Amino acid sequence: MDNQSAAPSTAPGATGRRHPEQESSMDRIENLNDQVESANDDDSFRERDMSGQETFEDIVEQHLSRRLLLGGAAALPLLTMPGLLPGGSDGAAYAQSAGLTFQSLPETVSRDASGNHVTASDVVTVPPGYRFNVVIKWGDPLFPGVGAFDVNNQTPADARQRFGFNNDMIALFPERFGAPATIGRLPFPSYIMATNHEYVTPPTLFPGVTTNTVTDADRQAVLFEYVGVGIVRIALQNGNWVYDQNSRFNRRITLTTPIDITGPAAGHPKLQTPADPNGRRALGTYNNCAGGFTPWGTYLSAEENFNFIFDHHLGTPVADPTILQDHVDVGARPGVVGSEYGRNFPRFNLSTPEGRNEIYRFGWVVEVDPYNPTSTPAKRTALGRFKHECATVALTQNDGVVLYSGDDERFEYVYKFIAANRFDRSNPRSSANMSLLDSGTIYAARFNADGTGQWLALDINNPATGPLIRASVYANGTPRFPTQADVLINTRRAGDAVGATPMDRPEDVEAPVDASFRGSGRVYFTCTNNSSRTANGLPTNSDARRTGSGRQIINQTDAANPRRLGIGHIIEIIEAGNDHAALTFTWRVFMLAGDPANPNGFVPAGRNVAGGSLNVGNTYTGPRFSAPDNVAFDKLGNLWIATDGSPEILNQNDQILAAPTNVPPGQPIPLSRFLTAPNGAECCGPLMTPDNSTMMVAFQHPGEDGARVFNNPQSTWPDNLPGSTIPAAQRFPKSAVIAVRRLDGGRIGS
Ligand code: FEO
Ligand code: CA
Repeated sequence: MDNQSAAPSTAPGATGRRHPEQESSMDRIENLNDQVESANDDDSFRERDMSGQETFEDIVEQHLSRRLLLGGAAALPLLTMPGLLPGGSDGAAYAQSAGLTFQSLPETVSRDASGNHVTASDVVTVPPGYRFNVVIKWGDPLFPGVGAFDVNNQTPADARQRFGFNNDMIALFPERFGAPATIGRLPFPSYIMATNHEYVTPPTLFPGVTTNTVTDADRQAVLFEYVGVGIVRIALQNGNWVYDQNSRFNRRITLTTPIDITGPAAGHPKLQTPADPNGRRALGTYNNCAGGFTPWGTYLSAEENFNFIFDHHLGTPVADPTILQDHVDVGARPGVVGSEYGRNFPRFNLSTPEGRNEIYRFGWVVEVDPYNPTSTPAKRTALGRFKHECATVALTQNDGVVLYSGDDERFEYVYKFIAANRFDRSNPRSSANMSLLDSGTIYAARFNADGTGQWLALDINNPATGPLIRASVYANGTPRFPTQADVLINTRRAGDAVGATPMDRPEDVEAPVDASFRGSGRVYFTCTNNSSRTANGLPTNSDARRTGSGRQIINQTDAANPRRLGIGHIIEIIEAGNDHAALTFTWRVFMLAGDPANPNGFVPAGRNVAGGSLNVGNTYTGPRFSAPDNVAFDKLGNLWIATDGSPEILNQNDQILAAPTNVPPGQPIPLSRFLTAPNGAECCGPLMTPDNSTMMVAFQHPGEDGARVFNNPQSTWPDNLPGSTIPAAQRFPKSAVIAVRRLDGGRIGS
């Protein structure tokens, strides 16, 4: 479907209630815890410096062979180059930044004065001169012979052959890794697109279901197949990006896919289960939020809110107090009602022998080779276990490998990993490169009030921090970290031990990299919000998850988290010497989310700031926003910011905004709004193609807070797009990936 800009307006809509997992990320974790405890040919683009492994003719043939499969026209224009590695920025032009000349959009109002969703807001808006098309959506068939989606006849076997539910992270891989630069002049640019499918919500998935969970094994088994990772080939055709149902690359990785466990914690007794006594082969992945991609052509999928799939209310709590404490540390407290999968599948019931250790096998970063559909994905334990939001790779100038990640929970940490070995540029797809994420050191960030910071090694053998980590004990006095593998299994607590800075829910951590995947030492990350950050340092109910386990929450404001009950901010890090492997850095608050129209402060909905208010200070001018989540860079170095949670805080649909990064400190950043989402949807991605002619955006959970959506939908996007032939009564919301382009194929942002 092809749609041009639509302006939001106001009209009555439907209301609904929320399931914890349906909530925006802003509240998703918080509320659950509370419940428990209470085609532009751009010559400026420099192809990435990778050795070619195929000839130009090979690639032409490959592309030509796809024409019929794609239903291609006889004469497609010569246009866009896809680049050789996943979409990203071009550091050569980084210092220029700016170039943001599109017309900033008005906000899309979420609810009317009565609290009803505004039906006319159930649209995607893009600036004048731009358009978008839906690339793929939930239920679309991924394999030859798979028929049209029938929401009334869902089975596990059928579900695993379709594009999954609630798409999140997007990455693009050139169809042939290492192809020569001439690929940029081919008529049929194409990519292998990898996406995450984060979670499922039965009321928006099964007609007639109004409860937040389903308890029968048949339907639960369907849910297992809609989560995880999806891989599908896409191609640009007549200005639209379309997916190829018949590509040999297409693949689903779900909660029932075998996945290796590798790295220092593989085989650890805590990772051993009756089904896998060696502790080296997990079954499936879940809660795949954001992630990353590597210079060696792999996809990284980050397991975030994995505690939600585990039940701790179906029997006697785990007896071993140290194991119990580990589970509490990740949010699986005794009494917690999770997915209810534990009723039928003992591995998700923490009270069973099968479930006791299964939870240790989630919370990792999963590496997938999208070029080899039969490869076994790997959970890389060297990267630590926590609620990974992302896994962003940047190379140092001498090809050292650094990976950044955030732990998206209140008062958790920002991490980076420095691999023990360097990337071998001469043989990028080597087995040595493929195992780079299996050995190295993980660090947690401390942000000092003077604008300096340190990366603190979470290494029991480190002279400075090792003694602190070794001193950490459980409540019964048992040492918490007898081995380094134990640090990796409960990384949060090692962060506690070394004095990392508890942050306002770190989400995406991104570093702009050049065409060779080398970073500039700059890093930006979002803190989406924190409804428990107070000014007095007293723990709130929802902090008890950690205080009850012996951790002293320090929840008063600090320099890096400067607002109580903050609604989001973005921090810029500059690594010492512009070296991503540095262990010290400087930092500043890049932007405070809020409303520049009220520079002296305002009180957003649902935030009792106890007589105070929030303000953006002098950090930016332009449209109001809150709850920044995913970010990305274009090749000019501009920062593109996606939000998840603005409907609840500012009564505006979520959006994508653009900010130049070359504004001197102390001057306000001129922000622009580029896109607004349909009702109830968060914006995931975004991701630019390397030539910046297309922005991919994943809309997750449209209709999110509209329970009983099949008879009372808050959103019917994308079924409601202009030209839709779907009868109104049969429309229901579907998460989907869209491709945004200029009408003339020019650079996104211009
Ligand atoms: Fe899945 Fe932190 O967002
Ligand atoms: Ca996210």
